[in-house]
Amino acid sequence: MASTQTAVLVKPDGLQRGLIGEIISRFERKGLKLVGIKMVEMSEQMLNKWYAEHQDKGFFDDLVSFMGSRPVVAMVWEGIEAVPVVRKLVGTTLGREAEAGSIRGDFGMSQAFNLIHASSSNEAAEREINIVFDDDELFEYSSALECVIYAEEERG
Ligand code: CMP
Repeated sequence: MASTQTAVLVKPDGLQRGLIGEIISRFERKGLKLVGIKMVEMSEQMLNKWYAEHQDKGFFDDLVSFMGSRPVVAMVWEGIEAVPVVRKLVGTTLGREAEAGSIRGDFGMSQAFNLIHASSSNEAAEREINIVFDDDELFEYSSALECVIYAEEERG
């Protein structure tokens, strides 16, 4: 099975809450591979692209201004079915209702301040990764743990 990549942003509220390490740790412990990471202040232009699908929503302006208010920590995680795996670890949008054990379920109470973004599909992941990362900021390397995280037939 082929590995795929997904984009994650720890949003300004996640940064303020001191949750960067906790969030990275959860993805690492799951067995995902970190292939890109950086702290970035997202410009209005980047955010308009990132949230294009929400541009007609009433909360769009607030969302763009909140996301641009402070730096975010952007990451690219890789693994088999990385997009759905990461979304499950992140939990549903509204923190109050998110499943206990998920990041939003364990740390969040809000909808707007929901700590973290995770790509919703492989196509969204590709688009989002390109907004924040240059090619030379993504790394290919073999993971020493891969042989105990996946069975041989899964690794292909
Ligand atoms: P996410 O699902 O990562 O991407 C869209 C974001 O819009 C969502 O997280 C929330 O942060 C934000 N959002 C969704 N609904 C609302 C809302 N009703 N009010 C403000 N922000 C919202």
